[in-house]
Amino acid sequence: MSFQTVVETRPRLNRSELAVPGSNVKLFEKAAASAADIVFLDLEDAVAPDEKEGARRNVVQALNEVDWKGKTLSVRINGLDTHYMYRDVVDVVEQAGHKLDLMMVPKVGTAADVYALDMLLTQIEAAKGIRRRIGLELIIETALGMQNVAAIAAASGRVESLHFGVADYAASTRARTTGIGGANPDYAVLTDADAGGQRLLHWGDMWHYAIARMVVAARASGVRPIDGPFGDFKDAEGFRAAARRAAILGCEGKWAIHPAQISLANEVMSPNPKEVAKARRILVAMAEAKAAGQGAVALDGRLIDIASIRQAEALVRKADEITAVGH
Ligand code: GLV
Ligand code: MG
Repeated sequence: MSFQTVVETRPRLNRSELAVPGSNVKLFEKAAASAADIVFLDLEDAVAPDEKEGARRNVVQALNEVDWKGKTLSVRINGLDTHYMYRDVVDVVEQAGHKLDLMMVPKVGTAADVYALDMLLTQIEAAKGIRRRIGLELIIETALGMQNVAAIAAASGRVESLHFGVADYAASTRARTTGIGGANPDYAVLTDADAGGQRLLHWGDMWHYAIARMVVAARASGVRPIDGPFGDFKDAEGFRAAARRAAILGCEGKWAIHPAQISLANEVMSPNPKEVAKARRILVAMAEAKAAGQGAVALDGRLIDIASIRQAEALVRKADEITAVGH
């Protein structure tokens, strides 16, 4: 272990993160009643320029008046390169900051972007007596953001998660895509001919590098890596496959840009019951070993040690949280 310890961010369930346009008031109550772990009310790309101010007012009102049933709430502000951004922060936090858990920041490019926002939030929280510090969810969705991802993740103690914004990332890197977050058949390996002369085309995951890079940066700073949108909400299997790939690389959650994707994200991002049962047995075995003055012990023919406890504890904590929310 390094002498430098990684301080883990505040743990939260973040399996599914539902995007709700701030301009579409009808969807707010539905979002509150949904099974999404986190709801983010969007002021950015789902809102047209002439609706920005109305959406901001809707969001303030909804934060204060809708019964969110204990849901984790976030607001996606406009980018730091727009003139909407400062008022998004000032109005939303001054008028409803005590209801807000997180603020989502799009197109973060440098650690200084995070610093600027941290400063603004710190001032508003102090001025308004908001004691619960608002966390940050940062979208990595530009070449600049990806280039600086490690510094961005480490830029403030407020950072809780990094999100891979595949749509803007594709635009920024000029990647050739077929649909938001989907696969491209041209990103493939052609096998050499076999004895019969046949060649096979194996599709690859064109997002592998970007997600893996973001996961490493996030974990090295103790924050959650979250996979972003999958555009085709009628394609449940496509969503599941993309979510599974992200989960396997270390992501804890995925966006739902449509309510139909919430249960899919919760399903894929929940720990497997067999793994949870095993984790519980590891904790019992390690408690017994500790009582007997032993540091390591065998379980099912494999050695388990202190490192196994940390993983097992995290898994059991998550499973207990899922049981508590009931879906
Ligand atoms: C999300 O904001 C994305 O651009 O994919
Ligand atoms: Mg985006």
